[in-house]
Amino acid sequence: MHTSPILVIGATGKTGRRIAQKLEDAGHTVRHGSRNAAIPFDWEDPAGWPAALEGVSAAYVSYFPDLAVPQAPAAITQLTAIAKEAGVTRLVLLSGRGEANARRCEEIVRDSGIDFTLVRASWFFQNFDEGQLLGSVLGGTIAMPAGNIREPFIDIEDIADVAVAALTEARHGGQLYEVTGPRLLSFADVAAEISKASGRTVNYLPVTLEQFHAALSDEAGPQMADMLTALCREVFDGRNESLSDGVRRALGREPHDFSVFCRDAAATGVWNPPAEARTA
Ligand SMILES: NC(=O)c1ccc[n+]([C@@H]2O[C@H](COP(=O)([O-])OP(=O)(O)OC[C@H]3O[C@@H](n4cnc5c(N)ncnc54)[C@H](OP(=O)(O)O)[C@@H]3O)[C@@H](O)[C@H]2O)c1
Repeated sequence: MHTSPILVIGATGKTGRRIAQKLEDAGHTVRHGSRNAAIPFDWEDPAGWPAALEGVSAAYVSYFPDLAVPQAPAAITQLTAIAKEAGVTRLVLLSGRGEANARRCEEIVRDSGIDFTLVRASWFFQNFDEGQLLGSVLGGTIAMPAGNIREPFIDIEDIADVAVAALTEARHGGQLYEVTGPRLLSFADVAAEISKASGRTVNYLPVTLEQFHAALSDEAGPQMADMLTALCREVFDGRNESLSDGVRRALGREPHDFSVFCRDAAATGVWNPPAEARTA
């Protein structure tokens, strides 16, 4: 049990929120890394990082918006130096599978002189019920520049369990856990499973990178469109069409299946909001 706090960077986000909750449920003290926390953490304001890391035993690092952006390696370099200075003894980095820039950031953490665990994840199930693609699901069309590529989507609950273990158990030091779900799924498979679970019709529309960029620029602005288009250009070439055993290696159990996630997400009503919420 840690008596000094564990910093969870991105503690209001998809992975960090679950990790902070699981740590607190297990009795650990958590310092919430958020721009709105009592000790704020802002990736845009390195001057605040020493205070956020002071007295911290271990830190979960989820970079925003994505390790794929060009400025990520410099930020991770600076963060690890400050963490070392602060005496942090374990860093757990959330990384993305098949991304060159994420790989650079992993190496920075590996070379930081701090004990570490790397959690290299495939695409999240929760992109479809709380992330970027929820709007597409509600609109009935998931338009992606992914052709028939299959991705081993993963449940964030599995990522959170791996991260919590890595933050709290010494045996995960120095490990790289490549974490995927148990099945390769095309976006057409995903649309079909969400349709079946939710009772609404969701289709997959394969689009070009140019079409994807144009649609996303209108919806989320040019910066997000540039970032996600570059990411899709990089990873949707078949490189990630394989399963990996990181969840089993870290936790001794199999990862959750997408069909179970779909059933549970459908039961919350997120895919069938009242009509007024859809048009708001
Ligand atoms: N989505 C995927 O399928 C996928 C797959 C593999 C890896 N990843 C990796 O997952 C990471 C993101 O993790 P996530 O999905 O858990 O996070 P997230 O839900 O995208 O966001 C995490 C938090 O970032 C915070 N944030 C926004 N701007 C910030 C800033 N300038 N400084 C500090 N915090 C800021 C927000 O918290 P506050 O508003 O409270 O500050 C937000 O709650 C990325 O690095 C990506 O590479 C994603």
